Parts: sequence; structure tokens; C-alpha cells
Amino acid sequence: MVSLSKFALLTILVVFQLKGGNSFGILKPIVHMYITNNFTTGEQLGVHCKDKDHDIGYRSIRFAEPYAFKFRPAFFIPNILYFCGFTFSNEFHHFVVYDQTKDEKAVKRECHWQINKYGPCRINVLVNPNSIECFPWST
Ligand SMILES: *[C@@H]1O[C@H](CO)[C@@H](O)[C@H](O)[C@H]1NC(C)=O
Repeated sequence: MVSLSKFALLTILVVFQLKGGNSFGILKPIVHMYITNNFTTGEQLGVHCKDKDHDIGYRSIRFAEPYAFKFRPAFFIPNILYFCGFTFSNEFHHFVVYDQTKDEKAVKRECHWQINKYGPCRINVLVNPNSIECFPWST
């Protein structure tokens, strides 16, 4: 009987987790991702983000316009990794906008990237609020 009720409890927990509910307060908060075109020249920026299971899709955004999506960091194994392709002029670059193993401590509920021609800059919210970290294009 004891093992049966343990099984029942586990089943309930799994069902709630699959439904994406947060009834037990054990799931990690959803991260809202905002990737914004910061080309003051007025050029459009093509953005296409994915992780291994989700394709957010391609969109072309204007200056100051955000490409937004949200996701929930994994609970047990920190394996969420979102990468994006960026196209403008005749350039094409890839960049990892969220790697749970590295970014989870600094990025909790929101992540703001501004895309420049020389590379993406993250405006921090949690650690050193409003500080800006810039990265050169790696590919
Ligand atoms: C946005 O672009 C302006 C003009 O090039 C630049 O001064 C500023 O640092 C950029 N902001 C970010 C967060 O990259």
C-alpha cells in the first residue's frame, strides 16, 4: 500500500509538471526573452531563434522592435540552450542568447538583448542592473 500511494503521488507530480502548472512551486520561473533591433541606421534585422525542441520562427524586425519569446528553464538538468541566426546587409551570424548552464544565475525572469552591427549586447536586469555586456560576433 505504501509503495502504491507513493506511486500515486509521483504520478500526480508528473502530471502537474507536464501540464506546466506551478502548483507545487517547484518549477523554475518562465524567462521572457526580448531581442531588439538597435540599428540606428534604420535597417531591418532578420532573427530566427530555436532550441533543440522549439523553433520560434523567422521574423524581420525594424529599429527598436523586439523579437520576443518565452520558455521555462529545465528543472533537473540545466540543458536549455537557445541560439539565433541574425541576418542584415550581407551578413549572417549565429549567437547563443541563453545557455542555462551559464546564464541561469544572471538571467531569472527576463533577458534583454540589443543587436548591433558589431554584435549583441545584453542589458542586465538582476546582476548589476542596467549594466551592459557586449559580445563580438563569433560566427
Ligand atoms: C544601441 O545603439 C547605440 C547607437 O549605436 C549605442 O550607443 C548603444 O550602446 C546601443 N545599445 C546597446 C544596449 O547595445
